Amino acid sequence: MDTLISLHSTVAYVVLAFLVLSFVNALTGVLVSRGFGSRDFRLSLFGLIFSHIQLLLGVVVYFVSPYFSAWENGMGAVMKDATLRLFLVEHPTTNVLAIVLITMGWSLHKKATNSRKKFFRIAVFYGLGLLLLLSRIPWQQWP
Ligand code: HEM
Repeated sequence: MDTLISLHSTVAYVVLAFLVLSFVNALTGVLVSRGFGSRDFRLSLFGLIFSHIQLLLGVVVYFVSPYFSAWENGMGAVMKDATLRLFLVEHPTTNVLAIVLITMGWSLHKKATNSRKKFFRIAVFYGLGLLLLLSRIPWQQWP
């Protein structure tokens, strides 16, 4: 249980690092109008893969976390407590939505017919996903 939680905590660095790199890389790609190459493809793919690994880990962590038993006291008790609400409701729902956006960005970039569109779609969707993730990281206890 503790191993899974600390793995989720460690993979978070990797996910955020790849998403920041992919986003900045895509943004500069749009700004300087360069061609979308295999390095750009790989960087965004790693962002996608680690987000999905973190999603799977998060789902398991959700059920093994000591916070989970708070549901026994009902929805009202969870929603009234800011920490429980963050870990049991806000962090999971926001992060699932963020990963949906990142996945959409990935598949839309593949459908794009030119480099500018590819960079643009990655920048917008990965950027929005990243903002959502950063908004619900438990900063008071991490890193
Ligand atoms: C890319 C997506 C995600 C990132 C970057 C992320 C990041 C984090 C971080 C940094 C922590 C704090 C760990 C610590 O205190 O050492 C955490 C805790 C937690 N995360 Fe996530 N998370 C993500 C997705 C998810 C998802 C999708 C779920 C559930 C479906 C989830 C459930 C949890 C839970 C329950 C905890 C609290 C664990 C505990 O301390 O008992 N996470 N997450």
